[in-house]
Order: sequence, then structure tokens, then C-alpha cells
Amino acid sequence: MDEFLINLEKFARQNNIPVILGDTKDYLINLLAETKPNTILEIGMAIGYSGSVMLKNSQANLTCIEASKPNIALAKENFMVQGLSERVEIIEGDCMQELPKLKGRKFDFIFLDGPKGKYLEMIDMILPLLNDDGVWVSDNVLFRGMVRDGEPVPAPRFVVTVQVLRDFLDTLENNPNLDTQVLHIGDGLSVTKFKR
Ligand SMILES: C[S@@+](CC[C@H](N)C(=O)[O-])C[C@H]1O[C@@H](n2cnc3c(N)ncnc32)[C@H](O)[C@@H]1O
Repeated sequence: MDEFLINLEKFARQNNIPVILGDTKDYLINLLAETKPNTILEIGMAIGYSGSVMLKNSQANLTCIEASKPNIALAKENFMVQGLSERVEIIEGDCMQELPKLKGRKFDFIFLDGPKGKYLEMIDMILPLLNDDGVWVSDNVLFRGMVRDGEPVPAPRFVVTVQVLRDFLDTLENNPNLDTQVLHIGDGLSVTKFKR
């Protein structure tokens, strides 16, 4: 990984900005090499760390949705410094409002790393945006082992999120039109494709 991204990851960790873990990054890089997307949609861009990783490891253009103004400002700067801005479209706002506005567009690769408590509701917003042979990766689906691995839920504020993530995975796995794998990589990844 180049020095800029090493420093950007350090900056994120020092400032408590949650960005993808190392093995998630490696998995995404391999999957991008395999799938060669032309268009990527990222929901939850933060400061553009995972977005930069995906851009630097593909030929794709990236559309990102992000709600936090301070994060957006940092992401713009980070994409610019790396010469990536021309390949990035940033949609500023709440993904629950912005995703429906993308109706009619299609993406080869979707990376969901936004509000975990909304993952279940987002299924019906995301599937119409996925190309027939596209791939959709969602991060944090095992949520520190609490979702399927029997880790206790340490505080009441996590209860709803954990239940939403359980329902999210069950819904994807039980959809007869989808193929979903749940991987113990990083904080848990689900990888969804349409059955062919
Ligand atoms: C885990 S961080 C994303 C990290 C980023 N993908 C990376 O690895 O570099 C989640 C991001 O989702 C954003 N977010 C949370 N709720 C959102 C919403 N409803 N709409 C858009 N963005 C949201 C947060 O502001 C935060 O920047």
C-alpha cells in the first residue's frame, strides 16, 4: 500500500474515524481484481479511505454517499491530493434519502459501510442498483461477534443494531434470487450476487 494510504489509515485510527480493517481491505482488493468493475457505489465514505483503496485497485469510477460534512470535506481533500477526484462523484446527504434518487442507475460493485441500523431497510433500495452480474459487499455484518457468534451484547444501545443485522443476513440468505456468503473477515462481510 502506498504511503499516503498508510498515513490516512493512521489518521483515521488516531481520530476514531472507523475505516475498513486490514483484512477487509485485502479482500476488497482481491475481489476488485477478480470482478474488474467499471462502476462502484460506496454507501458510507467517511474520509475516503476505502474509496481511495478501491479506486487505486481498479479502473472504476466511484460514486459515494456520505452524510457527515466534516468527513466529506476531508474526503474531497484526500481524493484531490491523490489525483483521484475526476473518478469520484460524491453525493452529500442521508443515504436513506439519496439512494432512491439513484433509481435507473446500475453499479458493478457496491460497498455498503453506512448506518448499520438501516441495513435491513436498505436491501430494497440497493438491489435495483446492482447490475445483473454485479457484486454487493456489506461491512460489519457480524458486528464484533454479536450477530451470529454468541458474543454478548454489552450495552442496550447495541440491541437493535444486532437484531437488524441478524434480520439483514437472514433476509439476504433466504432470498431465492440471491447468492449470499457471510465471511469472517474484518468485522464480518456479506457478499451478495444475483443467482444466474
Ligand atoms: C464506517 S464509516 C465508513 C468508512 C469508510 N467506508 C472507510 O472504510 O474508509 C461509516 C460512515 O457512514 C456515514 N453515515 C452514517 N449514517 C449515514 C447516513 N444515514 N447516510 C450517509 N452516510 C452515513 C458516517 O458519517 C461515516 O462516515
